[in-house]
Amino acid sequence: MMALGYPAIDLREAVRKAPLSLPGVESLLPADLVLAQEHWRVHMAAELSSARVFAGLVPQMMAAGAAFEDIREVVDMAKQEVDHGLLSGRVYAALGGEPCSALPPLEPVPDHIGCSPLEVVLRNVISISCCGETLAVSVIGAERERAEIEPLREILTRILADEVGHSRFGWRLMRDLAPGMDADLKRRLSAYLVAIFEHDMRVMLKARALPAASWAALSVGAPDGELSYITYVETMTHVTVPGLERHGLKAAWAFEKARALVEAQAVAA
Ligand SMILES: [Fe+2]
Ligand SMILES: [Fe+2]
Repeated sequence: MMALGYPAIDLREAVRKAPLSLPGVESLLPADLVLAQEHWRVHMAAELSSARVFAGLVPQMMAAGAAFEDIREVVDMAKQEVDHGLLSGRVYAALGGEPCSALPPLEPVPDHIGCSPLEVVLRNVISISCCGETLAVSVIGAERERAEIEPLREILTRILADEVGHSRFGWRLMRDLAPGMDADLKRRLSAYLVAIFEHDMRVMLKARALPAASWAALSVGAPDGELSYITYVETMTHVTVPGLERHGLKAAWAFEKARALVEAQAVAA
């Protein structure tokens, strides 16, 4: 039982039971190896911490009277994120890392006090599935295309299949619930999109500052600042924004509003 006094995860024992070998990583340049290791350490921690997001959605969905199948699907998704954490830890260990890491801040899923239980679920599912998980599909899909070492490609294929499910869950919920939303709910959700988009844009602008990575580093998952930002903008403009617009939300307006807010703050800084 670990008692470090701060959010952390120790997967050493779990990885020891399921070791992984990645042939060819020994030929990576040391600098590329360090970039890849850091990516998989961060990924391991991020995947594990996203389990809390789906776990946090469960009581909110119960409060909104969600169908049994939807609740079970969200519980399954929490388990899948834990599994992704272990898969990532195995890759990290195969790259020479010690699968043991601090976790990112474990912020609770927002409870949106004052909103109806349905609006609480819609706000959070739009943020988690229609935005975050939809971007994860683009990012992991691209990582999988670049992966040349077979066990790594297979692991990314498994993670990608789940992320597609996590993204589709949100879009299915929107498809089922949007026809019953009144104009006032759509207006409030559209206004809330500005906060979601602004938050995500700030995170992605920070990622954009990362340096460019070599092809060898990219093929084992190392991040590339400009590539990450382009993937984000393209996913937003070609998938997320038009998808939300199709369900009657003013997503294009919200995206421009968020962009203007972020740019205004950058000028003021
Ligand atoms: Fe995941
Ligand atoms: Fe996910």
